[in-house]
Amino acid sequence: MSQKKIKEIFIGSNNKGKLKEIVDLLPKRLKISSNLDYKIPSPKETGTTFEQNSFLKAKYFSKKTNKISMSDDSGIEIDILDKKPGVYSADWAGKKRNFNIAIKKVYQEIFKKDKNWKKKKIKARFICVLTIFWPDGKFVSRRGKIEGQISNSKKGVNGFGYDPIFIPKGRKLTFGELDPKKKYKIDHRFNAFKKIKKFF
Ligand code: IMP
Repeated sequence: MSQKKIKEIFIGSNNKGKLKEIVDLLPKRLKISSNLDYKIPSPKETGTTFEQNSFLKAKYFSKKTNKISMSDDSGIEIDILDKKPGVYSADWAGKKRNFNIAIKKVYQEIFKKDKNWKKKKIKARFICVLTIFWPDGKFVSRRGKIEGQISNSKKGVNGFGYDPIFIPKGRKLTFGELDPKKKYKIDHRFNAFKKIKKFF
């Protein structure tokens, strides 16, 4: 498919952690605008898959701005919790998006499943679906993931969301402890971005 390279893009996200990470991934020559400039409220995430929510956000922000728009839908799947919180990862943090509450809930739910969980490997993964939506209705969506496990306790202050309780496979530190520049080069968002970077 012959494809004109994107020169200007709107990043449709009201999550500052995500926004920072996405801007860091994009080529520096790109003209980037975001909710920090436009203050557009986010749409309701009515989908039941990362793909559906990523698509509906990218389309919504493209229609609002009349620009090519990129959105991310992401979350953490915890195997012992039957892949919850998954697409509802943000909801577990409540209306005020307090991730101390979300993390407490994760630990409570894991404990309910297995009282000895701290002695075991609790497998989890972060998933990210990035969608680019063009004003003419064309779109592309790609999924990325990173496997890992849940840490026995909250560690580190870097990043956002569930970063302090996720240890990527093959490492000892949580994403909360890892230097953000290192996280950005291995995580679910980077893995999704690699699959769409040819558009930039
Ligand atoms: P949504 O995509 O707006 O539904 O929100 C996804 C939620 O998943 C975020 O609010 C974060 O809590 C969580 N999440 C997604 N990616 C990451 C990450 O890289 N680190 C930590 N938490 C994440």
